[in-house]
Amino acid sequence: METMRIPRIMQDTSKAHILHGRTIGFVPTMGALHEGHLSLIRMAKQENDITVVSMFVNPIQFGPSEDFKQYPRDIDGDTEKLQREDVDIIFMPEISLMYPEGFLTYVNVEKISDRLCGAFRPGHFKGVATVVTKLLNIVKPAKAYFGQKDFQQAIVIKQLVRDLDMDIDIVICPTVRERDGLAMSSRNAYLSIRQREAATIIYKCLIEALDMIKSGIIDAGYIKRIMQDRLLKEAAVSGLDYAGVYDPVTFAELSEIEGDALLAVAVKLGDTRLIDNMLVTPDRRNG
Ligand code: PAJ
Repeated sequence: METMRIPRIMQDTSKAHILHGRTIGFVPTMGALHEGHLSLIRMAKQENDITVVSMFVNPIQFGPSEDFKQYPRDIDGDTEKLQREDVDIIFMPEISLMYPEGFLTYVNVEKISDRLCGAFRPGHFKGVATVVTKLLNIVKPAKAYFGQKDFQQAIVIKQLVRDLDMDIDIVICPTVRERDGLAMSSRNAYLSIRQREAATIIYKCLIEALDMIKSGIIDAGYIKRIMQDRLLKEAAVSGLDYAGVYDPVTFAELSEIEGDALLAVAVKLGDTRLIDNMLVTPDRRNG
C-alpha cells in the first residue's frame, strides 16, 4: 500500500495504471473510517484492478459554524484499516495543494443542491461538488463509490458527472447500520451515551414510515407529521432540520406517494447533526 500526498504524483500514477490497461476504483472519504466506508472499499476492490481511497477533510464543504476543526481525525487507525483491506493507494493531499493561493473555480449543481441538506447547509454541496470534481480529475477512476447514507450527495455527484461529460461510473452502495439500526457515521463519535441511545429514533421513525407506506397509506403529508412528531417527542432531539417524504429525483416534498419516494431525516442531537434515509420503490411497498 502506498500513501500519496501530492495531487500531481497521484495523477501521474493513475495515468500509468490506465496506460497499462488497469481499471481504477475510487472511494473518496474524509477519513475516520468505519464499516460504511469499508463496504464501499470492498465493492471497489471487487470491481477494479487498482483501488484508491482518498482521505481529505475538505474545508470548503463545512459552514463557518460547522465542525471542520473538530471533525474526527485518526490517520494511524485509518491507515491500519486500509492496510487490512489491502487497498493499493491512499491519497491524502495537503489542503494547500488542493486549494493553492489563487484558486477560483467552483462547481455548482443547481436546484437539487438547494433542497434538503442544501437548504440547511448553504454552500455545502458546492464544496462537495468542487472537491469531488478535483478528486475525480486527479485519480481518474473508471468507477467511483458513494454511500446511500448520503443519498442527496450521491445524486449531486451523478448529476455533475453526467453534465460535465465525465466518463466515470458512479456506484451507490447500501447504507451500513449498527445493530440497532443507527446508520454508521464518523459523527456518531460525538454522541454521549444518552444521545447514542436516543439516536435509534431516526431508524425507528424511517421504518415506521416505510411500514405505513407498505400498509397502503399514500398521504405523504400525514406520514411526514407522524415522523416529525415521533422525532420531536424524543427529548435528546434538540433540532429538526427536515423529516418527510420526497421525490428521489428532484428532492421536492411529495404530497402523495405514487411512484418512488425518498424518506429522509436530518436531526440534531445536541450539536451533532445526523442524517439518514430510505428509498421506497413500488416493489418494496408490496414486499
Ligand atoms: P464521508 O462522510 O467520509 O463519507 C465517505 C463515503 O462513505 C460517502 O460516499 C458516504 O456516503 C459513505 N458512507 C458514510 N457512511 C456510510 C454508511 N453508514 N453506509 C454506507 N456508506 C457510507 O461524504 C463524504 O465523506 C464527503 O462529502 C466526500 C464525498 C468525501 C467529499 O469530501
